[in-house]
Amino acid sequence: MTTRKLLLLPGDGIGPEAMTEVEKLVALLNAERGAGFEIERGLVGGSAYDAHGEAISDSDMARAMAADAVLFGAVGGPKWDSVPYEKRPEAGLLRLRKDMALFANLRPAICYPALAEASSLKRELVDGLDILIVRELTGGVYFGEPKEIVDLGNGQKRGIDTQVYDTYEIERIAKVAFELARTRRGKVTSMEKRNVMKSGVLWNQVVTETHAKGFTDVTLDHMLADAGGMQLVRAPKQFDVIVTDNLFGDMLSDIAAMLTGSLGMLPSASLGSPDEASGQRRAMYEPVHGSAPDIAGRGIANPIAMIASFAMMLRYSFALVEEADKLEAAIAEVLESGTRTGDIMAPGCREVGTTEMGDAVAAAFRRKLAA
Ligand code: IPM
Ligand code: MG
Repeated sequence: MTTRKLLLLPGDGIGPEAMTEVEKLVALLNAERGAGFEIERGLVGGSAYDAHGEAISDSDMARAMAADAVLFGAVGGPKWDSVPYEKRPEAGLLRLRKDMALFANLRPAICYPALAEASSLKRELVDGLDILIVRELTGGVYFGEPKEIVDLGNGQKRGIDTQVYDTYEIERIAKVAFELARTRRGKVTSMEKRNVMKSGVLWNQVVTETHAKGFTDVTLDHMLADAGGMQLVRAPKQFDVIVTDNLFGDMLSDIAAMLTGSLGMLPSASLGSPDEASGQRRAMYEPVHGSAPDIAGRGIANPIAMIASFAMMLRYSFALVEEADKLEAAIAEVLESGTRTGDIMAPGCREVGTTEMGDAVAAAFRRKLAA
């Protein structure tokens, strides 16, 4: 029988509450489909700092490297505002991305028709929205050196971050974007700031060359990242796949996420290169939302982004496509039925907490698996 090793890293804030709802789905798949998931749990972020004085321990890092897939919750909160920079909660997430070489971050922004009213944009602009942001995740200004604050000795200090991209980093993320576009509507928009940044000039060149070398069946457009942000809120449905660097991707994906009504809805997948022998990619899945310390522990967080992240795991790490489709359909059905957490509440709907939302999705998923 297949065994599938999952490492769960719930993290801080609402991470653990949302993760509990996924554990129900794992149990369901093991029972109903003999999916063979074996769960390990680890600590990341502030909770890891409290336990071991590091944002992730070497032993949990080793378990992440050995797992078939990692499911990550969220990190951070005011409790850890004053911990040293190297040990801050976010450092655990960044180490996971870097050490696992998860260079491709897939952030779909899908607007469920039932939620179009919850968007800050007019219904007709977002109804049926389905875009995919492909964010480079292990390079750019997040990791470039030097990265420091230097004392200039004259009462002034200088903060330095370095934006740096090599050809291979741009080429491999562009390929991921083109390949994914082939499975969708066949269009890629690359975003950078070539009008100001040398790294943007190179980004533009390499994406253009990669396209010409093997992906001319896909349509490629280029947009300056600021104009791209504007177009995302003006006419978001013009986009199919957006490929962009680590920092622009961070910002643009939050904008795209909010178009759909709530940050509490959106999943993401972070993938490495396929292993030469097995073809397996290292992978970590995480909701786009953060730890939401203001509502943590109150049982009101929306677990859908976490559940949808698990659906992406079924699809991309385990090729359980039917199960992933059914889980996504279960989420849509529960939303259609008017069951809502507070963040997506609307008049005439029924407001529920985290557990009840998780149970509703699990019940719908169970019915779909049996059908
Ligand atoms: C994200 C987050 C992270 C990032 C933080 C928590 C370090 O905002 O995943 O988008 O900046 O990448
Ligand atoms: Mg972000």
